[in-house]
Amino acid sequence: MFKEIELERIDISGEVPVEEPERQYYYMAKAKRIVEERSAQAGRALTACIKTFGCQMNARDSEKLRGILENTGYRIVEQEEADFVLYNTCTVRENANLKVYGHLGYLSNLKKKNPQMVIALCGCMMQEPEVVEKIRKSYRFVDLVFGTHNIYKFAELLVTAFESQRMVIDIWKDTDRIVEDLPSERTYAFKSGVNIMFGCNNFCSYCIVPYVRGRERSRKPEDIIHEIEELVKDGVVEVMLLGQNVNSYGKNLEEPVTFAQLLRRVEQIEGLERIRFMTSHPKDLSDDLIQVMKESEKICPHLHLPLQSGSSRILKIMNRKYTKEQYLALAEKLRAEIPELSLTTDIIVGFPGETEEDFQETLDVVRRVRYDSAFTFIYSKRTGTPAAAMENQVPEDVVKDRFNRLLSLVQEISQEMSLRVQGQTLPVLVESVNEQDANLVTGRLANNLVVHFPGTAEMIGKIVPVYLRECRGFYYYGETVNAQDGTNSRN
Ligand code: SAH
Ligand code: SF4
Ligand code: F3S
Repeated sequence: MFKEIELERIDISGEVPVEEPERQYYYMAKAKRIVEERSAQAGRALTACIKTFGCQMNARDSEKLRGILENTGYRIVEQEEADFVLYNTCTVRENANLKVYGHLGYLSNLKKKNPQMVIALCGCMMQEPEVVEKIRKSYRFVDLVFGTHNIYKFAELLVTAFESQRMVIDIWKDTDRIVEDLPSERTYAFKSGVNIMFGCNNFCSYCIVPYVRGRERSRKPEDIIHEIEELVKDGVVEVMLLGQNVNSYGKNLEEPVTFAQLLRRVEQIEGLERIRFMTSHPKDLSDDLIQVMKESEKICPHLHLPLQSGSSRILKIMNRKYTKEQYLALAEKLRAEIPELSLTTDIIVGFPGETEEDFQETLDVVRRVRYDSAFTFIYSKRTGTPAAAMENQVPEDVVKDRFNRLLSLVQEISQEMSLRVQGQTLPVLVESVNEQDANLVTGRLANNLVVHFPGTAEMIGKIVPVYLRECRGFYYYGETVNAQDGTNSRN
């Protein structure tokens, strides 16, 4: 494991190792020396800031990048007024993309004040050749650009950027490798994302992810188990298993393993209390998975099951590989098998050619499934995807109107669904001290609902029983329960 490596012991005057991860350890040691020199010159510790745009997978990547920066001697800070700034970008919708350009304008001003500042960009947006071209031409103050496939090489790229006077750009088209045993610096002490697979093979016709994240690759079960065991030793009680389509986990391994089998093994890890996962593609959700969820003590009764559209006609053009009826049957089976299950989803409004009738089908599914919550998105045209070339794009005002109608339905149902657990006493994993009221702490139920209740910072990372007193729309106010006599401690 990485923790046992002492970077000082690595001889950086010797030959560069060819094998990974040893090669990256070497470059970490080398980067550390450079950071030490620069910090001696500056007479203070150098600071680094990583900003994450995008999904949990990007957030997990950022933890790995942060681990490397910390090991090379940077002090990690929240603000972008730092000596090293790294943006881990997202491009799933145009908004995500525009946000990054907005932030870059701000960084350019900061760099004018601190010319020693190093600016790096990575993540999904950098896998788009047009983006890199634009950065090369119009954002010349950027020092380092890399993509999603060579993120494990960050230490090496860092050294190259330190030693170069020009913008360093290193983007790979794809990769089939997974490098294990690199450091990571978690955002939360008590919970962590764990990648179980990378990439996506589904090519939903609207989606850019398969182009920027490459083909599906699963990590070996033993590597995943080992990582979780180490995390648990380090205080983690909840893991979120991450993949674009976890239900197809393990299909391409030399010794194939199903996602349900993997979950059974993760369940055995002593000290681990909660298991979450995302995202589940409806087309691959097996009965075996439902069975494992039903039997498990640790898997949270929460399933994120993206619908995207309720119209079978649109689903076909989206290349989702299920119909409205199949989706509804699956949701019904899940509700019957696991009654306390919280079902959440993603829905896109305004996919090319979507008619009012198609949209009504989506509303119909929402009414029938009754999601605990749903992320609703306005369709965003992504260059290079089949949907972007479709001619019948829906006018903006029509999409906005549909979006608003969908949102109010989703919210109405979500509030009703949240009420389901009112008056019950359920375990809450405490995540933080409440931002508005320091007398309260904030945590999550197994079904992912947020609960605020009286508590102190010492409770962070603990799972405590909480009486769910009052539902305020999408969250609860609760009270701690005295475990011995079951009485509530009123605040
Ligand atoms: N792999 C996951 C989704 C990852 S992207 C899955 O298959 O469910 C997260 C969500 O972004 C998607 O579920 C979809 O609802 C939304 N999304 C993806 N591409 C989009 C686009 N071009 N426009 C609008 N929303 C999009
Ligand atoms: Fe995109 Fe579809 Fe892959 Fe999800 S399954 S990442 S929506 S292509
Ligand atoms: Fe965005 Fe990449 Fe995730 S495009 S949603 S950060 S996989």
